[in-house]
Amino acid sequence: MNETPAQEPAPESPRPAGELPPTARGAAWYGSADVASFIHRAFTKAMGYDDADLQKPIIGICNTFSELNHCNRGLKDVAEAVKRGVLQAGGLPLEFPTISIGEVFVSPTSMFFRNLAAMDTEEMIRGQPLDGVVLLAGCDKTTPAQLMGAASADVPAIMVTGGPMLNGRYEGQDLGACTDCRRYWTEYRAGTVDAETMSALEDNLCRSQGHCMVMGTASTMASCAEALGMMLPGGAAIPAPDSRRLRFGEASGRQAVRLAREGLRPSQIMTRQAFENAIRVLHAVGGSTNAVVHLPAIAGRLGIDLPLDLFDDLSRVTPWLANLRPSGRFQMEQLFEVGGVPAVMKELEPLLHRECLTVTGQTMGDNLNAVPPISARSGPSVKRAREVIATLEEPLDGEGGLAILRGNLCPDGAVIKHVAASPYLLRHRGPAVVFTSLADLSARIDDPHLEVTPDSVLVLQQVGPVGGPGMPEVGNLPIPKKLLAQGVRDMVRISDARMSGTSYGTIVLHVAPESAAGGPLGAVRTGDEIELDVPARRLTLHVPQGEIERRLAAFAPPPAPYRRGYGRLFLDHVLQAPQGCDFDFLVGNSEEARRAAALSRDLRS
Ligand code: FES
Repeated sequence: MNETPAQEPAPESPRPAGELPPTARGAAWYGSADVASFIHRAFTKAMGYDDADLQKPIIGICNTFSELNHCNRGLKDVAEAVKRGVLQAGGLPLEFPTISIGEVFVSPTSMFFRNLAAMDTEEMIRGQPLDGVVLLAGCDKTTPAQLMGAASADVPAIMVTGGPMLNGRYEGQDLGACTDCRRYWTEYRAGTVDAETMSALEDNLCRSQGHCMVMGTASTMASCAEALGMMLPGGAAIPAPDSRRLRFGEASGRQAVRLAREGLRPSQIMTRQAFENAIRVLHAVGGSTNAVVHLPAIAGRLGIDLPLDLFDDLSRVTPWLANLRPSGRFQMEQLFEVGGVPAVMKELEPLLHRECLTVTGQTMGDNLNAVPPISARSGPSVKRAREVIATLEEPLDGEGGLAILRGNLCPDGAVIKHVAASPYLLRHRGPAVVFTSLADLSARIDDPHLEVTPDSVLVLQQVGPVGGPGMPEVGNLPIPKKLLAQGVRDMVRISDARMSGTSYGTIVLHVAPESAAGGPLGAVRTGDEIELDVPARRLTLHVPQGEIERRLAAFAPPPAPYRRGYGRLFLDHVLQAPQGCDFDFLVGNSEEARRAAALSRDLRS
């Protein structure tokens, strides 16, 4: 078959493009009097569509369903619901697959593939005849990857996530993935929980399809998508198996057609102010540290800089409101019951940019005008709602959930989720116990002869963007078994890795520059004194600067684990954590991308 390269919108189209704006892209594929359009029409008719279909806005459904991604398994049904909505509104829905990243299954780490998924999403949106796209995401990396790709492609887009799992249930208590995976595994290692109990937990933890149901990374990024204005209000918290998620999908399908007709693009929605709203919500829900990597990556695609200091500045003036695990008590099912993310945003409203446009076609302020405040409710539901969502006046904490640290150990910053840390460790000084790699950690952490005390600071090197590679979620180093036996359940732990949003503890992450890039973390030696001071936002290696430099001068990076393929591309181009770990050649605003597309069209013609 001859290739028929798709063209950008033709200057004059003999085929009316319905109500679409002049930038409509379907007309470029189907509406010209040239051989390319002829072949596009013929091959589309081969799929059973007729001329009437080709007059409609073409809405792609970008589906990350995969049988190797348990979190996204429900998206097949959601896609069918979205299609009904698209048809109801007069559009033509066409579903297509992209890479799916199942957090716990892919190797070496899910983050390694996020940029690949973002490239897949961007190119498939740009490269196909779509007037609009519905992004179907779920598990941790699929949501930011789709938002990054959609930002770069800048075709009208709306996000629908697959929703959280129902709460796990075991002997009368709610279980949360994977906060309880870690909690019980720690107790199992400590010998306080037996293998039989672990087996029962394994059967009861994940009760339904959906993503992790605590405020982990998937829930956080879904909440951020809503706060950015890229999702219809209320979508983030609907449990995956709840029929309301399908109805939400239908509504989103209808709205995708309206967005395509209006030509409202992601770059008009995801503005600097919208990202500030998302960061506020991140802090208010006690969200995942991973958002501090993903949000700058999404923003970077639009030419918007989100420095770490912005996260810290907003953390200082945004209270923690949502009492959700792993920082608090409840899970997404309870958040949904009391009003979901819109209820949190209603409390936060005085601190938000109300003027931001959203996928409803209205502003965030207009959307929030339709949300009844908890204070206006009556009956027992108010008490329950107030248990889950605190007021601005009496928050769970006066500051947001995350803090950015600076100091000679992390000149370019580091992140700590202090609301999930032990208050007694937020100011701590102790001697380092250094592990130079994951293999070293595995080999020695439970060695009975390891010289470690509860005051020690565990340090893990070579697990950053390049060193990992891909910043594996290993920042929550296990507590040494001999300390577990003494009842120790938390210690200060420091690395250039990430951690799961479902994790907890006094854990300093994303140390930048990473050790594999010559950062000072690589200069730490066992016995060095390290001081953590979260209120002062300081992380200090108490070693003379000359000695640090002498050690770094002797540092030799380990051999690159990849010489070819995607691994090589990753190692050559990945940015550091504060820049979002995107590839250097993908950062840039979509105006530039559009100009580049127009230039290549001119060169072709
Ligand atoms: Fe997919 Fe937790 S494993 S969200």
